Amino acid sequence: MKPTEQKNPNPDLKLTQTSRSQNAGAETVVLVYSGGLDTSICIPMMREEYGYKEVVTVTVDVGQPKEDIEQAEAKAKTLKTKHFTVDAKDEFVRDYCFPALKANGDYQGYPMSTSIARPLIAAKAAEVANSLGAKSFAHGCTGKGNDQFRIEFTLRALMPDAVIHAPIRERNLTRSWEIEYAQSKGVPIQQSLEKIWSIDENLWGRSIEGGRLEEPDFAPPEEIFQWTQSPEKAPSQRQEVTITFDQGLPVAIDGRNYAPGALVQLANEIAGQHGVGRIDIMEDRLMGLKVRENYECPGATLLLKAHQALEALVLTRDELRFKKSVDLEWSRLAYEGLWQDPLKMALSAFIDTTQTRVSGEVRLSLYKGQCTVLGRKSDWALYSEDLASFDSQTFDQRESTGAVKNFGLQARMFHHLQALKGK
Ligand code: ARG
Repeated sequence: MKPTEQKNPNPDLKLTQTSRSQNAGAETVVLVYSGGLDTSICIPMMREEYGYKEVVTVTVDVGQPKEDIEQAEAKAKTLKTKHFTVDAKDEFVRDYCFPALKANGDYQGYPMSTSIARPLIAAKAAEVANSLGAKSFAHGCTGKGNDQFRIEFTLRALMPDAVIHAPIRERNLTRSWEIEYAQSKGVPIQQSLEKIWSIDENLWGRSIEGGRLEEPDFAPPEEIFQWTQSPEKAPSQRQEVTITFDQGLPVAIDGRNYAPGALVQLANEIAGQHGVGRIDIMEDRLMGLKVRENYECPGATLLLKAHQALEALVLTRDELRFKKSVDLEWSRLAYEGLWQDPLKMALSAFIDTTQTRVSGEVRLSLYKGQCTVLGRKSDWALYSEDLASFDSQTFDQRESTGAVKNFGLQARMFHHLQALKGK
């Protein structure tokens, strides 16, 4: 039986009117390619169902396992696409992870590792398309997730006349249909069949979902974790680590300088050994779907903790309070993939202004899943031992008397009035 004749939620697997006309004349389509089942079946589909002569596959290396990249390359070769692997690891850390760090980037407890990689992956696909004079794209996102928004927004922002196909979503495909289709088209899918979990990995973290993990009440089994030791088996000796920041950016670990990519890599290893950075949350997706998500983000967890500790030392109370709301809004925009949103750009400008003083050192302890701040210091510290110490008389406590007396004046007036009128 040909896949097009199989039972499918969408019985019409023929070209829809829109995709036929959208495709008018274009010969080349650029496929955002991970090498997984969803994106791999897009290759024959683009040729046979959407009428493209040439499929260009683009795999962007943001720090996923080497085997994944090699597998994508091998499949692209088997399926005879014109393939590009783009190494974007340094750019990812410098231009995506570090801005997220400066914003204390967090969505519902998740450092947004998958989220922030999507705009970069789309931007690289657009670069390849530009170099080839192509403006048609395809991606393997389903209609339930966030990635369709992130990828398509970036492509359209960078290339307003982009034509974008999302076959899995457009044709409402199911996994079992995809498997049969892949088999009938000679798409290698052995690895996809063996996989229990759906994993997305880059330098900022590792996302694990699928299988029973989708059940909110199912405890994540130890086997899903690869970057983090289980807290029970982690060393019983705590490890101290010092992170040095220069203007909001981490530049050294334990006094040794590292380039951005290497620094994040090392932070992942150090924190991971101690079981730090396991995250299990209920996450509200862009469309309103609540999903259970597991992540391991050891390096991001360590760096975010250190960064916040340093901000608390150098920024004013008002800056901290206001920045918290800025960070929250920045994170929502980043989660949704609105990387080039004007509000996000404006918030980033504010954040960057505050970061000019976020320089100094933070000492932390890593111990059995816990990451605790031990100490912090900075030339920009808004702390004076002389002012705060119990022993000092520089701050003349008698001068507080008048301020204390008038404190809460309006609230006191309110209670006074209530007592008068209440009777
Ligand atoms: N919920 C995450 C996000 O929207 C993505 C998780 C992707 N995980 C995966 N295993 N494919 O950022």
